[in-house]
Amino acid sequence: MTARNNGRRALVTGGAGLIGSHVVDLLLREGWSVRILDNLEPNTHKRGRPAWVNPNAEFMEGDLRDRGVMTSALQNIDVVFHEAAYGGYMPEIAKYVHVNSLGTAQMLEIIREDKLSIRKIIVASSQAVYSEGAAECPQHGLVFPTVRPVEQLRVGDWAVHCPICGEVTKSVPTPENAPVGGETVYGLTKVDQEKLVLLWGKQSGVPTVALRYSCTFGPRQSIFNPYTGVIAIFCTRLLNDLPPVLYEDGEQTRDFSFVEDIARANLLAADTDKLDGFPVNVGSKKGVTIREVAEQISEALGIRIAPEAKGEFRPGEMRHLTSDTHRIQAAGYKPQVDLATGIGCYLEWIRSQGDVKDYFSEAADILRNKGIVHSIAKG
Ligand SMILES: NC(=O)c1ccc[n+]([C@@H]2O[C@H](COP(=O)([O-])OP(=O)(O)OC[C@H]3O[C@@H](n4cnc5c(N)ncnc54)[C@H](O)[C@@H]3O)[C@@H](O)[C@H]2O)c1
Ligand SMILES: [Zn+2]
Repeated sequence: MTARNNGRRALVTGGAGLIGSHVVDLLLREGWSVRILDNLEPNTHKRGRPAWVNPNAEFMEGDLRDRGVMTSALQNIDVVFHEAAYGGYMPEIAKYVHVNSLGTAQMLEIIREDKLSIRKIIVASSQAVYSEGAAECPQHGLVFPTVRPVEQLRVGDWAVHCPICGEVTKSVPTPENAPVGGETVYGLTKVDQEKLVLLWGKQSGVPTVALRYSCTFGPRQSIFNPYTGVIAIFCTRLLNDLPPVLYEDGEQTRDFSFVEDIARANLLAADTDKLDGFPVNVGSKKGVTIREVAEQISEALGIRIAPEAKGEFRPGEMRHLTSDTHRIQAAGYKPQVDLATGIGCYLEWIRSQGDVKDYFSEAADILRNKGIVHSIAKG
């Protein structure tokens, strides 16, 4: 790998994926030398190595769980952008822990044992580390509700109640000091990843940052993976003349980030020391309902099929989450692409991808059978 311009060398794990590939492009534009480690996970990359893998980066195809592979990938690197992960609402359990938790633990161990001269690690965490978004109770002010019990969801009560008095609450932006738990296997492993990296950073003296991304979308988001990426899933449903499926009543809110903004947040975290040692929310600060997202996509595509809400729900899912982004804003972050513009870019890209198949219908059956998706009690 030849060093150019600023001479800094990056390893981007997961650099063929949505976020990783945009980080790679931005790093190269900024004059970094870049190595990618990616195993081209078949759920995400059904057609093999994607054309967008930047030819100016060194591409290592391999699994981060392989100690030898990871050791080679880490040689002569200054900054690690650890983006690879097993994500979404997949039915596996052990694989999440293996790839996300153990893979990260092993990476840190290799750096320490081989005394590698890594100068910073930025790990992709997620808003999925929170149990439920922060909320305001009419009586108790700011509260941090826990996950809604399955029994409550089963009777179709989707509201978030105050943990003290049980009153229905109003969603407010969630700050980084909200309790983290992880109410899905994925969320749990994201907690592991950020805690491992931040703790290791304190012990080793190497600066580390855990970026808690909000729902990220944009060109290159897998159109094959029916378990992750609500915008991608709604697009493929509509393009197949099928209604987008809303869990609960579709009124849950999320904070969406355009992928290029997330890439910029990574570069910022690499360049500033203001975020070192911290978990850092990265989001748009705006909550939008999933129903609104479905409607915006349908409008933009000109395919007017109303979304369908059949009272299905996913235990462990948060009702509302908007990121409080004061910490990253204070370091100079400002998202540049709003949801409508981002959706426009995504649709333009998806149209260039040839036939788009619906993988969701089959996946929905699997998720029901595995108990990841439940239905409200009838009668
Ligand atoms: N997309 C989002 O909404 C979102 C939100 C919060 C956090 N994140 C986190 O951001 C990171 C990137 O997510 P993304 O949306 O780009 O996902 P993605 O699936 O598009 O990319 C992940 C990449 O990692 C690779 N990968 C998976 N397992 C691997 C392994 N064992 N060895 C090597 N490579 C492996 C995949 O092939 C893929 O190219 C992940 O850590 C994810 O948890 C994503
Ligand atoms: Zn209360």
